[in-house]
Amino acid sequence: MSNEKVHEIVLWEDKYKTGIELIDKQHHTLVDLTNQLFLACRAGDDVLNVVFQDAMHKMVDYVRFHFTAELVLLEKIQYPDFQNHKKMHIDLIRNVLDAAKEYDEGKKLTPNNFVRTLRDWVFGHIAVYDKMYASYAADQKRKGILTETMLREIETAIGNEG
Ligand SMILES: [Fe+2]
Repeated sequence: MSNEKVHEIVLWEDKYKTGIELIDKQHHTLVDLTNQLFLACRAGDDVLNVVFQDAMHKMVDYVRFHFTAELVLLEKIQYPDFQNHKKMHIDLIRNVLDAAKEYDEGKKLTPNNFVRTLRDWVFGHIAVYDKMYASYAADQKRKGILTETMLREIETAIGNEG
């Protein structure tokens, strides 16, 4: 892998950590899927389309699943900024789908550009807005309002939706 490519991949960083095991696990999966997309970009031209499209749809599906899961959690913990967070997810998904469609149709975006954009949107959101509910959740935990048992129940609820 050249240096240029190394800079493109996503490395897990503590700034992404929410302290909620379930969410951190899903965010790790997002790191893996994004890196698979970067890897798919390196496939030869003849297979690029198939490999890339497959990885792209997997990533888009997982982002949607993860966002739904996150909202279940945020609703259960009565996150005060729930509506705003939900709106950000809707906008982000819309942007991703538009970019995917644009890629599918006109190839105005190169695969690398598409993945870079996707990476910046998703991880920009995680590093800023997910950290906000993370500190709220940590506070609720400290106050004893949010317990490990509750978190496990939420995890089960989310798992059933996947
Ligand atoms: Fe989020």
